[in-house]
Amino acid sequence: MVASGARTAAVVGGGVIGGGWAARVALMGWKVRIHDTDKDAPSRIEAVMARARAAMPGLWDVALPEEGEVSFHDDLTEAVTGAEWIQESVPERLDLKREIYAEIQAACTEGAIIGSSTSGFRPSELAEGAARPGQIIVAHPFDPVYLLPLVEVVTGPGTGDARIERIRTTLRDIGSHPLFLRREIDAHVADRLLEAVWREALWLVSDGVAETAEIDDAIRYGFGLRWAQMGLFESYRIANGEAGMRQALSQSGVALKGPWSKLTDVPEMTEELVETIAGQSDAQSGRRPVEELAQIRDANLVAVLRGLKARDWGAGRLLNATDRRIGGAPQGLDAMSLTAPLPTGARAVPLDWSDHNGHMTEHRYLQAFGDATDRFLALVGCDAEYIACGQSFFTAETHVRHLAEVRAGGQITIDTQLLLAEGRRARIFHRMWESSRLVATAEHMLVHVDLQSRRAAAPPSDLQERLGRVAKAHAHLPAPEGAGAAVGRPIAHKGAEEAK
Ligand SMILES: NC(=O)c1ccc[n+]([C@@H]2O[C@H](COP(=O)([O-])OP(=O)(O)OC[C@H]3O[C@@H](n4cnc5c(N)ncnc54)[C@H](O)[C@@H]3O)[C@@H](O)[C@H]2O)c1
Repeated sequence: MVASGARTAAVVGGGVIGGGWAARVALMGWKVRIHDTDKDAPSRIEAVMARARAAMPGLWDVALPEEGEVSFHDDLTEAVTGAEWIQESVPERLDLKREIYAEIQAACTEGAIIGSSTSGFRPSELAEGAARPGQIIVAHPFDPVYLLPLVEVVTGPGTGDARIERIRTTLRDIGSHPLFLRREIDAHVADRLLEAVWREALWLVSDGVAETAEIDDAIRYGFGLRWAQMGLFESYRIANGEAGMRQALSQSGVALKGPWSKLTDVPEMTEELVETIAGQSDAQSGRRPVEELAQIRDANLVAVLRGLKARDWGAGRLLNATDRRIGGAPQGLDAMSLTAPLPTGARAVPLDWSDHNGHMTEHRYLQAFGDATDRFLALVGCDAEYIACGQSFFTAETHVRHLAEVRAGGQITIDTQLLLAEGRRARIFHRMWESSRLVATAEHMLVHVDLQSRRAAAPPSDLQERLGRVAKAHAHLPAPEGAGAAVGRPIAHKGAEEAK
């Protein structure tokens, strides 16, 4: 676990972005204190938290720390006192932000980091006239903050190396990717890029070249997919083949001077253009409420991020690194008690594991149980290194029982009992729990295999010894209910009526 519940953050301004920060930090186990002048802020944030609970924890294949407490404070001083990170997310008005920093700095410790979510202001502008300018930095996130890892960080000369290091590790602790800008600039990096695309899109509508839905299609069916995984420069490098980047630049340099780029002009926002764009957008997306669109966006983002995770690439690589950090070093068999089934899994159900019935779909049970089998085998010594040397276990038979529903975001744990270890065969029984509720079981017959001949072969003596040790200890445990059951045979278990 990375963060104990003892770490405390404060969020000042709990709108779209402040709510997203609160969700990310609370789901990473921090206490979060929120100050917002609007009395409706708590209900808005609860809606964001509910969306985040379904989507965010399932990004990782290990359990996150227990969710931290979220509290609301009418008094700003009360909210920020003692917080180690204070994230200002009030509307984009310089005077308002400066007023808030004065109040925050009168209450917070000198060691606290004050991050601003500002999309446009530079830290030197924000910190002008502040009591301790080096304490105020830009920490610019992206909506939804609880899913998108990027945080652009802009520091100033007074920030100091120690604070920079703390900013880096703290953002890493909450699963974010801090991108430190080399120097301050209006609107940072990402929004500069987005503004350029946005301006060109407005021109295309204004000139009647394309409608809003067509522009969105041009992005999401094409280069947007490329951008999500490799960005701009790496994608262009490939597109140009072995001719390389120098060649690409010599060609695009000429093209960029062509008449088809209007990037520096902005179309006049006439009433007519506003009506055109708003009307096209209503026709494109108006049949769905924004909350529904946000849920669709979250589910799509989870699918993309988990896809990249399986590829260990880009943002997916960050998720894998966070898995390793949160999961910590795996506990060895010698350090574990063998008087109970072995803990072999703890995770949240990812959003993309849900089916049309609104609960975890069949093959994902098998995936979770398969991961638990891998974990069990690694514990007894059949780990990646062992397999690379030419031997492994294959699964010969499986029986999964679905006893109760689990939904996206649900926290599941798995334990494993070894029922038999005899020669080449091992029979294991997994139980999946959501809290104290048994939701599924899986029984597997595993066969030890020589990977060269692809035939069953006896395990080496050290592996046999470890399996034997677990089998001997587990022989004292009661036989699990449902072990050895055939498909369709009724089992006297109260969860059976709830079975899928
Ligand atoms: N919306 C985005 O996509 C996005 C993305 C990145 C960064 N940002 C930046 O984040 C900041 C917040 O933007 P947002 O979109 O969340 O705005 P928002 O309007 O949704 O939220 C602002 C919140 O601040 C509260 N507030 C107003 N005055 C306050 C005060 N004096 N004290 C405490 N709370 C106060 C409001 O009640 C509201 O809940 C802005 O600086 C914006 O540039 C926005």
